Amino acid sequence: MINSVIIVAAGKGKRIGGNTPKQFIKLNKETVLSYSINTFKSIEGISEIIIVTSKDWVSHLSSLYKDCKIVLGGNTRRESVKNGVYACNNNTENILIHDAARPFISKKIITECLTLLNNNDVSVPLLDTHDTLLEINNKVTYLNRNSIKSIQTPQCFNKEKLKVALELDYDTTDEISLVLKKFPSTKIGIAKGSKINFKITDKDDLFIAKSISDTC
Ligand code: CTP
Ligand code: MG
Repeated sequence: MINSVIIVAAGKGKRIGGNTPKQFIKLNKETVLSYSINTFKSIEGISEIIIVTSKDWVSHLSSLYKDCKIVLGGNTRRESVKNGVYACNNNTENILIHDAARPFISKKIITECLTLLNNNDVSVPLLDTHDTLLEINNKVTYLNRNSIKSIQTPQCFNKEKLKVALELDYDTTDEISLVLKKFPSTKIGIAKGSKINFKITDKDDLFIAKSISDTC
């Protein structure tokens, strides 16, 4: 199987604020983005890494990561992913999409996702919910946490199916939802997610990421 990785790094990080998008903030040794690039580089069976970023960062990243393809992203995640998908090698069969904002992706999760692709249409790490969950609208409803999972990345697909799903005019925060909308009978392979593979979203997350990077 020929596998391409797309790391989406074109977001602005509005929720965390500040001038530098979160994926380019330095943790202990290197930027948030570098952590996942290095992990994907260490996996056998990955033929290329494509980094999707905003116009302000294209030339800087091009000189920094000479062995990756650097591609211009868009205003929506779907546009960013689409640009990455169309930049993949012609012979790519599978695409792994990863959030640049998840620096601590492990080799174990990536390998499990890749293995699951042998018997499934897509694969993705899911994380169990441990807190008690409430839905608060006009009234308060307790939700059954046992049936609620968090979706992480990498999300892994057959390239052609993903391309078709990305044509849907429907903006989402992940790609599995698009594929399911287009192909409802999609068979999903579920890898065991990890709390360590969290997405840096706010200042607390950044604090945690810095603390982890100080200890590794
Ligand atoms: N992303 C992207 N292109 C976009 C929007 C998001 O490549 N137009 C990427 C982000 O860079 C990030 C990942 O998608 O690595 C997950 O998105 P999110 O956590 O929402 O990041 P931001 O959109 O940057 O943050 P915010 O929503 O707080 O602005
Ligand atoms: Mg966002």
